[in-house]
Amino acid sequence: MKNEWQIHNPDGKPRVIVSKQLVGDRWLEILTDAGCRVDVCTSTDILAKNDVIAAMEQGCGGAIGQLNEVWDKEILTRFKSVGGRVYSNVAVGYNNIDMAAATSFGILIGNTPGVLTETTAELTVALTFAVARRIAEADAYVRAGKFKSWQSNLFLGDLLRRKTLGVIGAGRIGSSYARMMAEGHRMNLMYFNPHRNKPLEDSFIEFNKFLTGVGEKPIQCRRVETLEELLREADVVSLHTTLNESTNHVINARRLRQMKKNAILINVSRGPVIDERALVDHCLKNLEFRAGLDVFEHEPELTAGLKELPNVVLLPHIGSATHWTRQAMSTIAARNVSAVLSGYPVWKGEDMQLFLEDGAPKAAPSIVNAKELGL
Ligand code: DGY
Repeated sequence: MKNEWQIHNPDGKPRVIVSKQLVGDRWLEILTDAGCRVDVCTSTDILAKNDVIAAMEQGCGGAIGQLNEVWDKEILTRFKSVGGRVYSNVAVGYNNIDMAAATSFGILIGNTPGVLTETTAELTVALTFAVARRIAEADAYVRAGKFKSWQSNLFLGDLLRRKTLGVIGAGRIGSSYARMMAEGHRMNLMYFNPHRNKPLEDSFIEFNKFLTGVGEKPIQCRRVETLEELLREADVVSLHTTLNESTNHVINARRLRQMKKNAILINVSRGPVIDERALVDHCLKNLEFRAGLDVFEHEPELTAGLKELPNVVLLPHIGSATHWTRQAMSTIAARNVSAVLSGYPVWKGEDMQLFLEDGAPKAAPSIVNAKELGL
């Protein structure tokens, strides 16, 4: 199918291509105020590599794209040759980009952190409870007209209060989710994060004083050295890692077997972190085991057998999907591109909120290969 493109500020320079309509208007104003011509693809289909390459042909200095478009060496080579200097994903993850190639070409790569932390953590809480309390199954039951009377054994689920949550990857989102589950639901925490500098347990010092003050037991939080320890002991295991060679299939058949028979597995990170065939097999053999997935190994395709499983809740990658966050992500992506094209420096701070306001700093908020490029 031929893609339609909407052109804004047709006489502007340089040209920026945007592979999908983004949320809100602010992002477009930022780019046109910076003098850019902006070509936006209005199709909702995922753009194929050749479509992206064709769109670049008239020359382009910047591009904004999505996590489901592959920006590999071939595309980046063409982008460089038509004058491309900066690309931003509308996402915090950037595993769809060949970072080594981008850096070797001197192309700056942007992402949109800091504005989706709480939104994604809240969705993770919602998914965890949807799984623990069998919300999707129960909803389908009512809609099918099967609800005839209250019964004491109807859709029994799990109480999570004072149980143990294991977080794999306690970065921004993983830590925020851990705090929600510990402070809101008194879950004890274990986390596996070889790269975390600041101990997560420090965030609970004040909260534990409060709990002790009201006569409640403090919550426990500890870092573990091995994944096996976490998998063995946690009642809920939640995945928040980035996707790379070491995290691909980090949850496989062997590790699923190490988990409790009635554990809950949650994934809001990237699909390939779980070997989905092994998960289907495990869920079929252990109906007490349950999983909640917001992302899929072969997204948007589902591994055979997954959608037939009653013990799995499936969501269409909506972790960051709130009005506020998606507008903010679009704004940060536009700021990344417009700032680089305007010759502004890279921002060294972490506060992304500043870039949502009028009078934002004259800087590119989040360029992930800035250090490698010496910026
Ligand atoms: C991301 O930002 O990487 C999420 O997966 C989509 O919000």
